[in-house]
Amino acid sequence: MTPVMRVLVAGGSEFVSLALVRALVRDGHTVAVLNRGRRTDRLPPSVSVIPCDRKDHAQLKSVLARARFEAVYDVSYAPTTGEDVAALADAVAAGRPHVIFVSTGRVYDHALPIPYSETTPRGYYWGEYARHKIAGEDALLARHQTRGLPVTIARPTHVLGPLNTRHNEAFFFDRIIRGRPVLVPGHGGWLRQFGHVDDLADALASMPGNPRAFGQAYNVTGEECVTQVGFVEQIAEVLERPAEFRHFDPALLKRFDQPGLVFGQNLVYDCHAVYTTSKVRTELGIRPRYTLASGLRQTWEWYRKEGLDQRPVDFTFEDQLLALLPR
Ligand SMILES: NC(=O)c1ccc[n+]([C@@H]2O[C@H](COP(=O)([O-])OP(=O)(O)OC[C@H]3O[C@@H](n4cnc5c(N)ncnc54)[C@H](OP(=O)(O)O)[C@@H]3O)[C@@H](O)[C@H]2O)c1
Repeated sequence: MTPVMRVLVAGGSEFVSLALVRALVRDGHTVAVLNRGRRTDRLPPSVSVIPCDRKDHAQLKSVLARARFEAVYDVSYAPTTGEDVAALADAVAAGRPHVIFVSTGRVYDHALPIPYSETTPRGYYWGEYARHKIAGEDALLARHQTRGLPVTIARPTHVLGPLNTRHNEAFFFDRIIRGRPVLVPGHGGWLRQFGHVDDLADALASMPGNPRAFGQAYNVTGEECVTQVGFVEQIAEVLERPAEFRHFDPALLKRFDQPGLVFGQNLVYDCHAVYTTSKVRTELGIRPRYTLASGLRQTWEWYRKEGLDQRPVDFTFEDQLLALLPR
C-alpha cells in the first residue's frame, strides 16, 4: 500500500482517468483533477477540480503555480503533444512529484514480429498518435535523465470496460443482443489484446513513489490475446446468444463515400497487436484481476444496468453492405 499522497490527474472525468480517480480515492489519496470541466458531475465528492485547457500552457502554468503534489498522472489525450506533456511536467516540477504518463502500446513499430516488449523499437507505424505519445515519453525521460524527475510510463493496449470512450465491446453487444449479424472485414484472424479499465486503474494507482518504477516504461494490459472473431465469440458466450458472422472483402468499403463502422471503433487494422506483460509483473508485482471473459461479463452487466440494450442503433450502413454480399 502506497502512503497517502496529494495526487493530480490530468483528465479525470472519462473512462481511464475516471477509473483511476476512483481507485486513488478508494486508496485514501487526496485527489485533484485538471480538465475543462465538462463532466464534473461524475467525480467523487472529495475530488477537487482545477479547470484548465491543457493545450493553453500559460493557463496551465498559472493554475498550477502554487499547487504541490507527490504524484501527477498525465492521462488526457487532447491530442497531447510532447510539448503539452513537457508543459505539464514543468508546471508541477517545483513539488518534484512522481509523474506517471499514460502512453500506449501503439508506440511500438507494429511492422515488427509480435510480441512487443518494452525493448521493442518504437516507431511511427500508428502515425500522429504514435508520434505524439513517443514525444511525450521522451520529454519525460529526458527530464528524468537530466534533472532526476521521477517518471514512469504506462503503455496500455485496447482497454475495455464501463464508459469506454472507444466503441468496441458495446458495438458487438448492440448487434448480438438484437440478433444482428456481425460483419467481419477479411479473415478476422488478427490478434488483439485487451485489458480491463479497473485493472489499468489499479496498476496506475499502485505506482506512485515506487523507486523501482522511476525512469521505466511498462506494458499494462490483460494476459490473453484473441483473434478479432474470437473476441466476438467470447462476447456471444457472455450474452448467451449466438453470433452470426458475415465475412466480407474490405475493398467493398471503397464503394461508399462515408463508410460507417463495421467491426468496432478501432479493431479492424491489418496486423497483430500482442504485448508482453512480464516486466510489470516481475518488477512491480502487478497482475490483472480480470480475465477477458470476466471483464466482458462485468461490462455487459453495466451495459444492461444502464439500459443501453434498449437504445436506438442505426444499422443503415451495415444493411447497405449486407445487401452487397452473397447469401
Ligand atoms: N481507451 C483505450 O483503449 C486506450 C488504449 C491505450 C491508451 N489509451 C490512452 O489512455 C488515455 C485515456 O484515454 P480515455 O479515452 O480514457 O480518455 P481520458 O483521457 O481518460 O478522458 C479524457 C479526459 O481528458 C479531459 N480533456 C480532454 N481534452 C482536454 C483538454 N484540452 N484540456 C484539459 N483536459 C482535457 C476530459 O475532460 P474535459 O472534456 O472536461 O476537458 C476528460 O477528463 C489517453 O491518453 C489514451 O491515449 C487509451
